[in-house]
Amino acid sequence: MIEFTDDDSASSGAFTPSELGHSSVINTRPPTLVPNPQGATEMTADFVNGDTSRVTFAPQTYSSGHKHDKELYSNHKGPRSPRGSGHGTKEKSPLLGPRPDVDQSGLWNSFPDDPQFEGIVLACELAIEDNVFPERIYQGSSGSYFVKNIEGKIIAVFKPKDEEPYGKLNPKWTKWMHKLCCPCCFGRSCLVPNQGYLSEAGASLVDEKLGLNVVPKTKVVRLASETFNYSAIDRAKARTKRNIYNRVPIVGKHFNRIGLPPKTGSFQLFVNGYKDADYWLRRFDNEALPESTAKRFQHLFERVVVLDYIIRNTDRGNDNWLIKYEPATTKSVSSNPNDEEEGWDMVDNPEISVAAIDNGLAFPYKHPDEWRAYPYHWAWLPQAKVPFSKEIKDLLLHNLEDNNFVQDLCDDLLELFSHDKGFDRPTFEKQIAVMRGQIYNLIEALKKQLSPVELVKMPVHTLQRRRHTMGRTRADSDNFTRSFPRRTPFFSWC
Ligand SMILES: Nc1ncnc2c1ncn2[C@@H]1O[C@H](COP(=O)(O)OP(=O)(O)O)[C@@H](O)[C@H]1O
Ligand SMILES: [Mg+2]
Repeated sequence: MIEFTDDDSASSGAFTPSELGHSSVINTRPPTLVPNPQGATEMTADFVNGDTSRVTFAPQTYSSGHKHDKELYSNHKGPRSPRGSGHGTKEKSPLLGPRPDVDQSGLWNSFPDDPQFEGIVLACELAIEDNVFPERIYQGSSGSYFVKNIEGKIIAVFKPKDEEPYGKLNPKWTKWMHKLCCPCCFGRSCLVPNQGYLSEAGASLVDEKLGLNVVPKTKVVRLASETFNYSAIDRAKARTKRNIYNRVPIVGKHFNRIGLPPKTGSFQLFVNGYKDADYWLRRFDNEALPESTAKRFQHLFERVVVLDYIIRNTDRGNDNWLIKYEPATTKSVSSNPNDEEEGWDMVDNPEISVAAIDNGLAFPYKHPDEWRAYPYHWAWLPQAKVPFSKEIKDLLLHNLEDNNFVQDLCDDLLELFSHDKGFDRPTFEKQIAVMRGQIYNLIEALKKQLSPVELVKMPVHTLQRRRHTMGRTRADSDNFTRSFPRRTPFFSWC
């Protein structure tokens, strides 16, 4: 049963302790190790519906006898991230009480349920140790880094929490000026500040749980590198410790850690061969896709729409999703080898895949209601006018209508978000209420076979579980308070 109110500040309930310990582990779709034609081991990140984005994995990582052997790694005495309990595991510590840091277990970058992902992170750590440092992405809006393996190949994108636009070490002076001179216009008031890295990992979690396969796998990881932006104090401390360690080892060995402090951030697998959606969308305007490719693209597009709508992404410009398109294969079915006038129907169907990146500005705790509406930019594309397909309906509807499934999704997000030192339970519940409202609308749209444009025109609302129904009461009698925002954004056209 749903109760209607006109107030968007519905009282927040509390999750039961059993819910906190219940969450399932985030990853269920590990990549596989496959040999490439050159004989090197590659990690295939199982991604985008059958598309495999290949990330060259430092082959020496697991090879015995090499200087980067895993055994040697574990015996290494230098500054190294402890491993053993990362965000892929259940949290053991209580949620209440002082939370001095993001993860005080002292162990991180360990994903027991996803050894391949762990292997990629390890490859990055080994590369950093070998002076192959992450490189800042200069076009990025804050501190984002291309992380490489020991061969210098980019294998991930790392976004440290403290270099986000609201982070204390954001390296972009333009952002700093903006925050200083124009605080009321800075950032998005509907988002929890400085939790972009959680939003990135949360988007990947939602993507995986729903089987959308459009977000490159993203998890929370800790990395240190001298190319990251550190305060002068942190750098001086690290230098001093290093000097002491070198000169007076008997004292130095008592240090917990030598070197720059690791930063917590989102770590997203890098996908190869993709270009900004904007680039290909312009090309598709002039050069129509073959029918079956267009259909495939429509299905992938719907998945991006679903993801963005559920997580209420406020930053889905056409530069924040990528398309991989291999227009035509060389193989020709033409009987005449000199025939250069082949049409689309005379070549193999081109391959197309999409990747929804840059998901750091999602999971708002209220619908945008101040200056800007932060629309989904895909809503202006011709694909957005096409009704949702049977394929997407079959993929999602039975799960979205299942209270237990949605509750599990919320529990998994709670497990992820609660690691942040700024975690606030009532705010989290508001984030979940927005997401449940979005899911409610999406179910309606799928059932009625509306189009994405019609979906985004539906009135937005929040669905907050009533306090007395908190806990894992999974009956259909679970009920919610439905609230509509009292205000609408000033500029709803932008
Ligand atoms: N997972 C990824 N795989 C491939 N390229 C990526 C990936 N993530 C980011 N990029 C590239 O880096 C650019 C900046 O990344 P983005 O996540 O949009 O950062 P920002 O938050 O700074 O805008 C993107 O436009 C894209 O070209
Ligand atoms: Mg971007």
